[in-house]
Amino acid sequence: MSVHKEIKRITTRTLQEFKAEGTKISMLTAYDFSMARIIDSAGIDVILVGDSASNVMAGHETTLPITLEQMIYHASSVVRAVERALVVVDLPFGYYQGNSRLALESSIRIMKEAGAHAVKLEGGSEIRESIERILTAGIPVMGHLGLTPQSIYKFGTYTVRAKENTEAEKLVEDAVLLEKTGCFALVLEKIPAQLAERVAKKVSIPVIGIGAGGGVDGQVLVSHDMLGITKEFKPRFLRRYLNMYEEVQNAVKQYVDDVKSRNFPNNEEQY
Ligand code: KIV
Repeated sequence: MSVHKEIKRITTRTLQEFKAEGTKISMLTAYDFSMARIIDSAGIDVILVGDSASNVMAGHETTLPITLEQMIYHASSVVRAVERALVVVDLPFGYYQGNSRLALESSIRIMKEAGAHAVKLEGGSEIRESIERILTAGIPVMGHLGLTPQSIYKFGTYTVRAKENTEAEKLVEDAVLLEKTGCFALVLEKIPAQLAERVAKKVSIPVIGIGAGGGVDGQVLVSHDMLGITKEFKPRFLRRYLNMYEEVQNAVKQYVDDVKSRNFPNNEEQY
């Protein structure tokens, strides 16, 4: 039996154990019941209800417009489907930055109304107070450093972060601070592989990378990207496991043809 079948429910503690024993952590995004069910049944360790829902579900250019209510809607649909994975939910932009009370309130709503297991916040020292306050309620917090899409207008681009020494050192300091503050895990997005490996070795909490190389404790991808539902997004770090855009398009074309040509429904497909 494979390792994922033996574990009934993944917890933050399981992820710590995975890091300690050198078992890599698998993580994917999901935003709805049907996809979450498939992903969970395939043995994923962590499901992230990412604010990337703003892009792939709602068609926005950035993650900034998505609201707390919309995140709760997506998260509650995912939680209803999941039997094994740890469900982590992104706190959306504007619900935690510079306001630790709002951060706590928003996190409590995500836990209470969606039934999530943990929340994820983007940033380092500047959001420390928010993280500390959320932790007082017993809510597990996952950090996120490197390319943090909620700050896109500060960066100006989605290119690789922390290539320069000063930014790299600040990232390492932030990672240590997040661990000390009490985060149970950390996402590193789009940074040099060597730097990500250095962070993973320095902190004892699991480090999960996206575009951060293989020297970290686990990997996360946006499910719509790895399944090929999105077509134009082709960063170097992305491995596509399916070409769903074309497969679905071909199936729909076939259906249209069948309806037009009266091939569907046939005698067996009616009452
Ligand atoms: O929102 C998201 O999908 C994320 C991942 C890219 C880590 O934060």
